[in-house]
Amino acid sequence: MSLVTGLDILSVARKGKYGVGAFNTNDMEITQAILEAAEEAHSPVIVSLSEGAIKYGGDALIDMVIHEAKQATVPVAVHLDHGSSYESCMRCIRAGFTSVMIDKSHEDEETNTREVKRVVEAAHAVGVSVEAEIGRLGGIEEHVVVTEDQVSLTEPSEAKRFIDNTDADFLAIAIGTSHGANKGKGRPFIHHDRIKEIAVVVPQPLVMHGASGVPQDIVARLIAAGGKIEGAVGIHEDDVRKAVTEGIAKINTDTDLRLTFTAVVREILMNTPEQFDPRKILGPARTEMKRIVAERIDVFGSANKA
Ligand code: 13P
Repeated sequence: MSLVTGLDILSVARKGKYGVGAFNTNDMEITQAILEAAEEAHSPVIVSLSEGAIKYGGDALIDMVIHEAKQATVPVAVHLDHGSSYESCMRCIRAGFTSVMIDKSHEDEETNTREVKRVVEAAHAVGVSVEAEIGRLGGIEEHVVVTEDQVSLTEPSEAKRFIDNTDADFLAIAIGTSHGANKGKGRPFIHHDRIKEIAVVVPQPLVMHGASGVPQDIVARLIAAGGKIEGAVGIHEDDVRKAVTEGIAKINTDTDLRLTFTAVVREILMNTPEQFDPRKILGPARTEMKRIVAERIDVFGSANKA
């Protein structure tokens, strides 16, 4: 068990028509919440670190995540989310990551292809999987800011050409989701037909970024505890359940854990102003994030697939 590549986990998931969560971490509590929930559900899992998380936590964070992944009783891939450069991917590979994303989706196809190919050649030489993206999702994610007018869905023919030319292992596609807590009004529209059209020509596992459900009970608790957030809407779980039958194998989730962490910490600080033991503040946040991860695993269908 323990540390495996992203492709080890995702190729089986795509064939088995279930999804595997790629949960973003920034610290020990989030990492433990992800891994404990996955272990209890006997589910494979991907722990993602963005460049922002790495900048925040440094080698201490990287070493801790890799150490915990190695000890896990289920298959775990440690993944770089939205790598901005070849150098960034190489740093992570040297540190022991088993999967990296090189995100040049904001560049033209030729540049995107060239940059991804370069990372693929180096990563494959040492058995590390590579995720790439074509098409443009909305929202803000690390170095990439995409406004609504710049969003463009992934074209099936472009996706096929890109994956053939780059040899990337899994492909992030733009199909209507966006990063962050505001994914649109009402129920965000997911282009299921587009997923199916891409899946016909791209046999590799497909990746859904911006997939958080933005649980409304958590949003309500955040607001009740003094938080400010407007129009918070996520991806309906029925859309996620459907997408995994259509070819989506990796489902990225960051916002749900951020919201949960902050809601719980706010509640504790508000309700027990005398509390100043970090363990009594962060511990309950970890427990609640673990519950959210477990719910996501249930929606993705990856329980008992370890
Ligand atoms: P959310 O903002 O929906 O959690 O998406 C996170 C993500 O896609 C990270 O790559």
